Amino acid sequence: MTRRLHMFDLGGQVAIVTGAASGLGLAIAEVLLEAGATVAMVDSNGGALALAVQSLRDSGLTGVLESVADVSKEEAVGALFDDIAATLRAPDIVFANAGVSAGRGFVVEGGQLQNVEIDNWQRVLDINLSGVMLTMRAAARVMKPLKRGRIIVTASIAGLRAEALSGYAYVASKAAVINLVRQAAIELAPHGVLVNAIAPGPFATEINGGRLKLPESAERMRTYIPLGRIATADEIKGVALLLASGASSYITGAIIPVDGGASAR
Ligand SMILES: NC(=O)c1ccc[n+]([C@@H]2O[C@H](COP(=O)([O-])OP(=O)(O)OC[C@H]3O[C@@H](n4cnc5c(N)ncnc54)[C@H](O)[C@@H]3O)[C@@H](O)[C@H]2O)c1
Repeated sequence: MTRRLHMFDLGGQVAIVTGAASGLGLAIAEVLLEAGATVAMVDSNGGALALAVQSLRDSGLTGVLESVADVSKEEAVGALFDDIAATLRAPDIVFANAGVSAGRGFVVEGGQLQNVEIDNWQRVLDINLSGVMLTMRAAARVMKPLKRGRIIVTASIAGLRAEALSGYAYVASKAAVINLVRQAAIELAPHGVLVNAIAPGPFATEINGGRLKLPESAERMRTYIPLGRIATADEIKGVALLLASGASSYITGAIIPVDGGASAR
């Protein structure tokens, strides 16, 4: 019999991916499905989520469920995990991926510190920080007693260092979730739950009104990113599958940049 690679196989596993209607979350859901997991795709945009789920089903993938929820709402996250436990079982893999832009960075007029608006600041922290904490908390509650599980957070390289192109609330929220990941990784390690973060650089998704899809963004990144281009959403799949699977059994508390070399500067 031919020997085959099994360490990336997710057959029989249940995963939850938040922010799964679009961009990185959709790509993450797709690779988990391709690896054999059952995936609950979660998003606050019900219309976009329905279309995304249909496109995956049309491509021949099975094992996908959809759930409309706003991750910044405590009750909604609780209900989401209760529903999944009732219809499937406790998740093995949870991606806290949903996030929003805070708008302009300080290199753009209106993006300076003096212009930070408290409503926008609070909205971004509610989703990018509290939403991630609520998702991680719900995951920890079910995974800890079972002594197994993977929690993966989509942070950003904008949380690793200053980022002139990102808004203040965004960089603050992403720095905060990075330490949330480290803190939870230490607490949950003795319980067999691994907690890691992906720190993407620029990916062409719908974030910030699809700004990174514009030709001027591509032009700017040519000099800014060592690999000389913006990534496609599919380029998140390798690290997502690594962190979700048995291939990363000795990785916890890690913040892994997927950024074309940007954070190496
Ligand atoms: N695209 C990039 O360049 C980039 C870089 C670094 C980090 N990220 C992070 O990647 C993650 C995914 O972003 P993306 O680029 O795929 O953007 P996207 O806008 O294409 O997708 C984000 C999805 O999250 C959903 N969402 C937003 N708020 C939500 C909420 N409160 N509850 C549930 N769902 C919600 C949106 O409806 C959308 O479908 C975010 O955390 C973002 O900060 C993106």
